[in-house]
Amino acid sequence: MKRALTPGTFDPITSGHLDVITRAAQLVDEVVVAVAASQKKGPLFTLEERTALARQATAHLPNVRVEPFDGLLVDFAHEIGASIVVKGLRAVTDFEYEFQQTALNYQLSPELETVFIMSPPQYMYLSSSIVREIASMNDAKLDEFVPACVAEALRAKFAR
Ligand code: PNS
Repeated sequence: MKRALTPGTFDPITSGHLDVITRAAQLVDEVVVAVAASQKKGPLFTLEERTALARQATAHLPNVRVEPFDGLLVDFAHEIGASIVVKGLRAVTDFEYEFQQTALNYQLSPELETVFIMSPPQYMYLSSSIVREIASMNDAKLDEFVPACVAEALRAKFAR
């Protein structure tokens, strides 16, 4: 059984994330969406909220499950028996950061393979931080960028 991890902070999960997860799910037997605690990033949504939103957003994908984790990605991959890490690659600006993380993870665990899925043009500049910014200013535009359950959660978060 080929099991892949799609890790991230998912604060919150976006349509771009969902595109990568959906495409990864077509390539392997099972995808585990690994929601990192990422406390240092001071996330808008709690780990429980981010996990719940990712679960709702991926509920229609039968070979996808969502798990929170705290600690090293390579340790979590071993714990759940994943042999592949799948990440999305958007604009060139992602490259340096992803290159660094991939090199580090390789050093920590050479048998864990990292592969990248290129974002399609409509998600090339989409990120959770952009989505949070849009939500804080004009929540009418959210539905273009996130699944409906996430748009609802963002509206509730920013309700004044
Ligand atoms: O969505 P993000 O914030 O870009 O995802 C980054 C993430 C969570 C994949 C990365 O920070 C991570 O793997 N964190 C777990 C801790 C870890 O393993 N750090 C060393 C690898 S860089």
